Amino acid sequence: MINEGINNEEMELLSVVHRHYGYDFRNYAPAMIKRRLASFMFETKFESLPEVSQRIVSDRSILESLIYYFSITVTEMFRNPLTCRKLRESVIPYLKTYPHIKIWHAGCATGEEVYSMAILLKEEGIYDRCHIYATDINDSALNAARDGIFPIKDAKKYSRNYKEAGGHYAFSDYYSSIDNSIIMDRGLKENIIFANHNLVSDHIFGEMNIIMCRNVLIYFNDILQEHILNIFFESLTHGGFLCVGNSESIKYSNIYPKFREIARRERIYQKKMLQ
Ligand SMILES: C[S@@+](CC[C@H](N)C(=O)[O-])C[C@H]1O[C@@H](n2cnc3c(N)ncnc32)[C@H](O)[C@@H]1O
Repeated sequence: MINEGINNEEMELLSVVHRHYGYDFRNYAPAMIKRRLASFMFETKFESLPEVSQRIVSDRSILESLIYYFSITVTEMFRNPLTCRKLRESVIPYLKTYPHIKIWHAGCATGEEVYSMAILLKEEGIYDRCHIYATDINDSALNAARDGIFPIKDAKKYSRNYKEAGGHYAFSDYYSSIDNSIIMDRGLKENIIFANHNLVSDHIFGEMNIIMCRNVLIYFNDILQEHILNIFFESLTHGGFLCVGNSESIKYSNIYPKFREIARRERIYQKKMLQ
């Protein structure tokens, strides 16, 4: 397999990881692979990539560490508030007409995006009709997401985002605070299922009404983006919505003609109905 921009030693390590453990990072974006392998090498003090390729086969902890380096979990509550506002204004009204609603957050990291969605759905009165699947490749991020405990230092920014996103009340209505943390209300996670899922190799999640996959595709090359966008296409109901990150797009994908744009800047698309 060729991923232009990746040198032989880098590709050899990724191929060993794929062969022995099934994790396929070979089509991550070259710049990301190089950057993350460089910090991995710097911080783990291995002598060379060939040494890592050799040792990783019999030492799973090196794999765990590599996954950690390839998983960038930066996120926030009501990230890109105008996107959240657009979801509220342009997508929720459709969902309100459905008896059951299935939502998939692919690449949910530590869960802030999922709790934001739960708040939005509560405020719009449809949370009880929703099942939210929140998935990621990174188990420790998923555990943090399940806990729903976040640093209090971010609460001010999250309150601002919440307001900008069209929040009806106060963000502080949705958590209690202890020491340096905020603990999200248990009720928010009643209908959320957190699960490990690898977008590169795992099965599709069927019959979704919304797929949120923001700031994930950006780490993949064109081939992998296309593969994953096709998985999303297959996973969505007709009339279902796909939302990607503000610096991502489906415009160059072969699925693009099968969607209509709901909000160009906010990257919200709707799968066309069967004709
Ligand atoms: C920057 S975070 C995005 C979090 C959130 N969606 C947001 O926009 O704030 C990217 C997430 O993608 C996840 N990820 C990377 N590769 C993945 C894969 N192959 N399958 C599933 N998730 C993956 C990472 O573990 C990380 O948590």
